[in-house]
Amino acid sequence: MPNDAIATGVQPSGVQPSEVQPSDALQARTPNWWKRAVVYQIYPRSFADSNGDGVGDIRGIIDHLDHLATLGVDVVWLSPAYRSPQDDNGYDISDYQDIDPLFGSLADLDDLIAGLHQRGMKLVMDLVVNHTSDEHEWFQESRRPGSEKADWYWWAPPREGFAPGEQGAEPTDWRSMFSGSAWKFDELRGEYFLHLFSTKQPDLNWENPQVRQAVYAMMNWWVARGVDGFRMDVINMISKSVPLADGANHFDGPRMDEFLHEMHQHVMAGQNLVTVGEMPGVTLDAAANYTDPSREELDMVFQFEHVGLDEVPGGGKWALKPLHLPDLKASLSRWQYGMEGRGWNSLYWDNHDQPRIVSRWGDDSDEHRVASAKTLATVLHLMKGTPYIYQGEEIGMTNAHFTSIDQYRDIEALNHYAEARELGTPEKSLLESFAVKGRDNARTPMQWDDSKQAGFTTGEPWIAVNPNKDVVNAAAAVADADSVFHHYRSLIGLRHDHEIVREGVFDLLEPEHEQLFCYTRSLSGSDGDEQLLVLANLSPSEVELPEALRTDGDVWLATHAERASDRLQPWESRVLKVR
Ligand code: NOJ
Repeated sequence: MPNDAIATGVQPSGVQPSEVQPSDALQARTPNWWKRAVVYQIYPRSFADSNGDGVGDIRGIIDHLDHLATLGVDVVWLSPAYRSPQDDNGYDISDYQDIDPLFGSLADLDDLIAGLHQRGMKLVMDLVVNHTSDEHEWFQESRRPGSEKADWYWWAPPREGFAPGEQGAEPTDWRSMFSGSAWKFDELRGEYFLHLFSTKQPDLNWENPQVRQAVYAMMNWWVARGVDGFRMDVINMISKSVPLADGANHFDGPRMDEFLHEMHQHVMAGQNLVTVGEMPGVTLDAAANYTDPSREELDMVFQFEHVGLDEVPGGGKWALKPLHLPDLKASLSRWQYGMEGRGWNSLYWDNHDQPRIVSRWGDDSDEHRVASAKTLATVLHLMKGTPYIYQGEEIGMTNAHFTSIDQYRDIEALNHYAEARELGTPEKSLLESFAVKGRDNARTPMQWDDSKQAGFTTGEPWIAVNPNKDVVNAAAAVADADSVFHHYRSLIGLRHDHEIVREGVFDLLEPEHEQLFCYTRSLSGSDGDEQLLVLANLSPSEVELPEALRTDGDVWLATHAERASDRLQPWESRVLKVR
């Protein structure tokens, strides 16, 4: 410890006095209640398995509701548990109004809603309506010649001069997100159908008003059942530029605003729900419009800029690019400034499609895992917006560190592997990319304890448990007042307790600094001007603080018990109330 270490009398994270309170009945009636909320995402397949079949299920979630209540989250977003052939782990839905037997039953889901509501938490369902499963009855009907649902999907004949199935016969040059052409020929219909994702995920035709009405009816059925909102899967793909054409963009089509507003009118109006639209490639201006309250479209969106910083522009997802902290600060602060007074940000590091943050921007070594996980949490949660926590993030779970293709389960990685191997890409480079960015990194089972399968299942898990469960597990984290878990708990408490965390205006400091991520939040109120200062060292070396940042103040939260006023230790962060 440096000699001038100061002790402020404030404990490090985990033993903050701040009381964490989940949302209460009053909050439920408050408009814009989600501005005070923290959301926790559950990927049901990997959360907790109650029946020993190796796959997580709804009963397993119910068994762990107290974990969520202790953490203090307000909302659970449940990734799809609907009936599905599981080609894309449930993002291929064959019945929107039923639960897949793999996960339980509708009665289990009702119990989940009740269990959450009893604890003051809410449930957000995943709404996957850019596409259905090819096994959905709508698609099966649509295939039949003369069907009433003939244009519920995007059908097109082979390109002129080409025979069906011939190379180049696909109606446009669009590529699927999961490799290969975005078109597949259907023998029964005698035409191609569009699938922006897997061949088992045909795109719905939102130009057809009947499709839209069927979706709204389904959503209202869920609202009547008690759900509190929707996370909308790739929602900026529902409007496409018509006619579909080579080279055209299939994001943010011309009718996006119209469709979202119509959906709002049919489902959301007067219900006090929360909506978040997943929008790959969305621009800041478009996001500000989508979330402008006066337009009545969405409450917030998931944008992708900050999770694309390790992509090589034009090189696709898998080419590796080293990370550079000033890029992260520039991106996140651009969204903070750009949304101020216009729309509302969602704040996330992880989800089921992203690698684990502690392995991506942090340091998952034994030495720095805990501090770096806490500091990354601090930096994210004290920005303006609604924070999302992905299961396991709250205990500092790391990437899977798989070394063989046999360990992977994700269709995106497996399809890319097959295609790239065919083209001669060396296996080693593919495995390197998957280890860094593969979606399975976030899909290994939740680590509840240090038992054989980490308390996730009594059977054989569908994907391997990370061997670091001996150290990284919820039981250990909850028992340790200085753990990542209690740091997240404290951050949630700060958001609940302080208007400045919810509403303060963001300002980035030291934008070019290669190791520090520092910013202020400022609020003018009847009690005068308040200011919060967030100081974070996102590096494994000690960093001297620039003069201007050596400020005194009340320490609201800190990663380290002993602190020096003029420097930050490796991965140290502090939150100071300076005015
Ligand atoms: C985005 C989801 O988050 C991802 O997991 C899924 O594969 C695609 N949309 C297709 O639904």
